[in-house]
Amino acid sequence: MASLKGFIACILVVYLSVILHRIILNPKISVISIDLDYISFVLLNIDYKSPYLYIVTLIVGFLVHYVYNLLFRPLNRVRLLGDVGYQKDGKFTMKEISNRVKHMRDVGEIPPVYPNGWYALIESWSVGLLETKTISALGQQFAVFRDENGEAHVLDAYCPHMGANLAVGGLVTGDCIQCPFHGWKFRGHDGKCMGIPYAEKIPEVAKVKSWTTVEINDWINIWYHAEGMEPYWQIPEIEDISSGKLQYNGRTEHHVNAHIEEIPENGADAAHLMKVHRPFVGAGYELDKIWSNYASWIYHKWDATWSQRPSPEDHVGCMEVTHDVKFFGYSLFKLFEIKVKALQLGPAVVHITMEGIFFKCVLQHMVVPMEPVVQKVVQTLYMHWAIPNIIGKIFLASDGIQVDRDMSIWNNKKFQSKPILSKSREDSLITKHRRWYSQFYSEHSPRLNFQKDTLDW
Ligand code: FES
Ligand SMILES: [Fe+2]
Repeated sequence: MASLKGFIACILVVYLSVILHRIILNPKISVISIDLDYISFVLLNIDYKSPYLYIVTLIVGFLVHYVYNLLFRPLNRVRLLGDVGYQKDGKFTMKEISNRVKHMRDVGEIPPVYPNGWYALIESWSVGLLETKTISALGQQFAVFRDENGEAHVLDAYCPHMGANLAVGGLVTGDCIQCPFHGWKFRGHDGKCMGIPYAEKIPEVAKVKSWTTVEINDWINIWYHAEGMEPYWQIPEIEDISSGKLQYNGRTEHHVNAHIEEIPENGADAAHLMKVHRPFVGAGYELDKIWSNYASWIYHKWDATWSQRPSPEDHVGCMEVTHDVKFFGYSLFKLFEIKVKALQLGPAVVHITMEGIFFKCVLQHMVVPMEPVVQKVVQTLYMHWAIPNIIGKIFLASDGIQVDRDMSIWNNKKFQSKPILSKSREDSLITKHRRWYSQFYSEHSPRLNFQKDTLDW
C-alpha cells in the first residue's frame, strides 16, 4: 500500500515537473524571472489530450519511483525454500527439487528440534496497534497481538472453546483478544477468559497459554522451555538502536531446510569461511561457479575464532572475526577491513557488531524453527543515521549472498552427530560449539520422531 502511495506521488511529481519543464525551457522566458502571464498561458494551452504527455509521465514516474525505492526504502531480500540452495535439474522446477530433497535426504541423527531459549518470533513493525498475527513456529501455533496500550502479547492460537484460531479474524479490545468464532475474550497478560458474550458465568478453566514475551531491539521475542522453566537470562538491549543513533537499513530472510543447530554452528566453523565465503560476493551464490571468475584477483579474507563466555554468561557464545577484501593479494589500506563480533545469545538470537574505518553497524541474526528441520533466518541491519541508506542496503545484500551460499550447504547436508574432525584449531572450535549448544536441550525437548508420529512428517 505504501508502495502504491509512493508511486502515485511520484506520478504527480513527474506530471507537474513536465509542465514546469516546458515553462522553464521556453526561450521566451528566463529561469530567473518567470513571466507569470506566460506560465498561465502555457498551463492553459498544454495539450492534455496528447498521449505523449501521459506516456512520458508514466515512464519518468516509474524511474523516479524505482530510484526513490533504491535510495530510500529499506531492503527486504527474501529467499524462500527453492529460491536458492538446490542443484538445478532441467526437468524439474526448483520448488519440486526442494520438496524432493526435503523429504528424501538423510537428515542424520539430529538433536532435539526446538532448543530452550528466547526466540525472535516477529519484527515489531509487522504487528501494528490493535493488529493480530498468526505464526507457526516451534511446533506451536501462536496468536500475536498488540493491545490498545501498544503492548505486544503472544498466546496459544487455538481457542479453548471450539478451537478457532484467535488471530485469524480476532479483534483486539483493551488488553484482550476476542475470538472470531463466538466472541470469547482472552487477556494478553495471562490468557484468562474475561468474557463470554452470551453467558454470565465464565468456566474456571477457560484459559489459553500466555507465552512470556519481551519486545526489545525491534523484535517480539518469546521464551520457550521444554521443562517449563522461567527465563534465566535476558536479551540485552542494543542501545545504539533504541537511542536512534543507528537506523534501520532493511532485512534479509532465508528459509533453510536444516536442523537449527546447523545455523549457529556456522559461526564457530572457521574453516568454512575460507572455502564458502572467500570468493568475492560479486561471484554470486552458486557454489560450483563462485571460484571461476573473481577468486584469483579479488577475494574475502577471514580470520575467526569462537569461545564460550564464563558463568553466569555461559549461555553466550562469542565469535570474533577479522574480515578484509584482498586485491591481487593486497589489502587497500585497510579500507575494507572490518572487525566483527558476534554474540550468540542462546540457541537462536545473535547480535553482531561490525566496525570498519568509516562505519559501525549492528546486524541482528534471528533463527526460528518453522518446522522441525525448516528454519526462518532473518537478519536486520542498522547503520549510523548519517550514512546513506543505499550503503547499508549494498552491505546487507552482500551479506545475503553469503547466506545464500550457506543455504546450498545447509539444504543438502546431513547432520553429522559424530563428525570425524581433524586435529586443528578450526575443527576444535566445532567441538567446543557443540558442547556449548548442548546446554539448550533438556529431557523433554521435542525430537523429530515425536514429530513424525504426530505431524505426519
Ligand atoms: S471457538 Fe472461540 S469463542 Fe468459540
Ligand atoms: Fe557461512
